[in-house]
Amino acid sequence: MAMVSVEILWALRLFMIYMVIQSIASCEPDILLRNGKVTELSSWLLGDSIKFECNPGFSLQGKTWHLGNGNMMKRYCAKAGCNDIEKQANGTILTATDGLKAEIECDDEFVLSGNSFTYCNGTKWIIKLGTCQLANSVGDHSCDFEREDMCGWRASKAIPQPWKRISAAADFLKEKCLQQDHTFQSDVEGHFIRLQSQVHASRTYHFISPIYPRNLTVGHSLWFQFELFMFGSEVRNLTISVKPSSMAVEDMWNSFRNICTKLTVSGDQGPNWKSQSISIDEMESDFQVVFTVVDPSSLHGDIGIDDVKFIKSETNEPHS
Ligand SMILES: *[C@@H]1O[C@H](CO)[C@@H](O)[C@H](O)[C@H]1NC(C)=O
Ligand SMILES: *[C@@H]1O[C@H](CO)[C@@H](O)[C@H](O)[C@H]1NC(C)=O
Ligand SMILES: *[C@@H]1O[C@H](CO)[C@@H](O)[C@H](O)[C@H]1NC(C)=O
Ligand SMILES: *[C@@H]1O[C@H](CO)[C@@H](O)[C@H](O)[C@H]1NC(C)=O
Repeated sequence: MAMVSVEILWALRLFMIYMVIQSIASCEPDILLRNGKVTELSSWLLGDSIKFECNPGFSLQGKTWHLGNGNMMKRYCAKAGCNDIEKQANGTILTATDGLKAEIECDDEFVLSGNSFTYCNGTKWIIKLGTCQLANSVGDHSCDFEREDMCGWRASKAIPQPWKRISAAADFLKEKCLQQDHTFQSDVEGHFIRLQSQVHASRTYHFISPIYPRNLTVGHSLWFQFELFMFGSEVRNLTISVKPSSMAVEDMWNSFRNICTKLTVSGDQGPNWKSQSISIDEMESDFQVVFTVVDPSSLHGDIGIDDVKFIKSETNEPHS
């Protein structure tokens, strides 16, 4: 009986040592709360318990406790005293009566680009509010994922859905290196697409562009460029494909994968955003670009995508 307990204790000890090594290997960012205090307790059994408290005079925006592992909403300490925010074109600013929070709502046929909310810190609004842009405007077909409609990009239908649009101002991921987008690299501004690991996400998940017109590919060489963050020991493969818009994404993957695949990025690419590009030949029809990941259920690491755009070039090398 006594022998068994000793063995269990040893197993437990080794497991705890393993857990410590695991957390050193990941890059846990500090949880900061301006004008407040964060108390962090964690145990391998229960996950995190994190308490948020604001200094006297400030009021906490969000729940006092964060329990368990996984995604966490960012908290802010707010205090009244900011000037009214100027009226925005094609949208309405709603300021809470207590003066702590303001939100923007876009008129019909307009879509928000940027942050939907901000808090006052006693003198200044902390987060830059977004602007309202005309919906369904395609522009140059680039996308920084600031727009709520993701410029028409969408994830293939699935539950759970690992492809998510992340807001640097609203979301915080403990034990993740990827907190900031590529466009702004700020703690309170910017959005990007992240592939989240989820225990039950063991299928194939596509992230699909809007339909691009065929004529984009005519008369010059065309490059599709994107920023990629791919870091961690188990990130495996990200596949980038181009398919005719009439072909279903499942058919592409099951039957035409070889001809549609333009690039496979395999494994750890380091803890930074890096540009990647693929060349797109002249297409016979309108087309779509697809990012695919297979079985992210045991993904230990981060995959992020941001700032997609087309570059037209006379030569065979992409340049901006
Ligand atoms: C607001 O919308 C109108 C059209 O309804 C447009 O002319 C104007 O440029 C828009 N303003 C901004 C800032 O987008
Ligand atoms: C409020 O924000 C402004 C601008 O970022 C900063 O200068 C100021 O120190 C902040 N005040 C407090 C109390 O944090
Ligand atoms: C390409 O086609 C789209 C519609 O399919 C059209 O709106 C656009 O003007 C065309 N562009 C050029 C450069 O021909
Ligand atoms: C990942 O991609 C590499 C290179 O394209 C390929 O050889 C390998 O089989 C792929 N692995 C998986 C699990 O699909």
